[in-house]
Amino acid sequence: MELLDGKYWSNAILDEIKSELADIKGKISPDIGLAVIVVGDDPASKVYVKNKISACEKVGITSKLYTFPTEYTQTELISLIQKLNKDSNTAGILVQLPLPKQISEKAILETISPQKDVDGFSPYQVGLLSIGEKSLVPCTPKGIMVLLKKYNIPICGAHAVVIGRSNIVGKPISNLLIQENATVTICHTKTRNLTDITLTADIIIVATGKPKLLTADMVKDGSIVVDVGINRINGKLQGDVDFEAVKDKCSYITPVPGGVGPMTIAMLMSNTLEAYKRQNGIS
Ligand code: GUN
Repeated sequence: MELLDGKYWSNAILDEIKSELADIKGKISPDIGLAVIVVGDDPASKVYVKNKISACEKVGITSKLYTFPTEYTQTELISLIQKLNKDSNTAGILVQLPLPKQISEKAILETISPQKDVDGFSPYQVGLLSIGEKSLVPCTPKGIMVLLKKYNIPICGAHAVVIGRSNIVGKPISNLLIQENATVTICHTKTRNLTDITLTADIIIVATGKPKLLTADMVKDGSIVVDVGINRINGKLQGDVDFEAVKDKCSYITPVPGGVGPMTIAMLMSNTLEAYKRQNGIS
């Protein structure tokens, strides 16, 4: 078994982005901005956003953090986004999800300029991804694909089983795997005989938010397991995979923490750089 070391690769990618950004900043623009908007006090969101802001500092992206109380209105949020859409110093706009109940996620994602949509959640970017055109790809799925490639894991013709059908992970990772010619099965809470399906998988991506959902009896020998889960159990992080039991059956597996999480953050930096370059006609 070999670990898919997201911590190592994310640091390597952040270093590459840092030097590319330094080059651009010296030649073109001193300020490449990412606006990060958080509404409410979801504890997990606070941790994610802190990590995103510190990655910006590391690579030299100017982060602008906007935090608002739970009562912040949809109208106020939309007018802030419209302002940022027009701001030439803001290359990327990220609205941390989930949003409080009174704010429609759909209305917000539709307001973010697709060119600044570094999460790749706007309908336009989702559409491009689904037809296999170049797009800003959601950070977690993009990070998983980069990690699989770093370890030369064969995707073409492999049976990839994705557990979870969210817009943030399950659906986009399925599209990316299809584009790389995997045979993809998408499973979810209503799937019957999940174990029968996972036992036929070469690659299993688990993104359910259910701690230790994937157990050793569900995994065939030599499979590749990617754990997207970040569950906090008694103050300790626990993935969606029963790591200790599953690891010895795998050829490759991601740890939690230190697997997919750091790759997500690195891809946000990568998407911000990409958005900036496209906005400024740099290829
Ligand atoms: N909430 C959970 N994951 C994400 C993410 O990747 N981006 C945003 N904006 N919100 C999230």
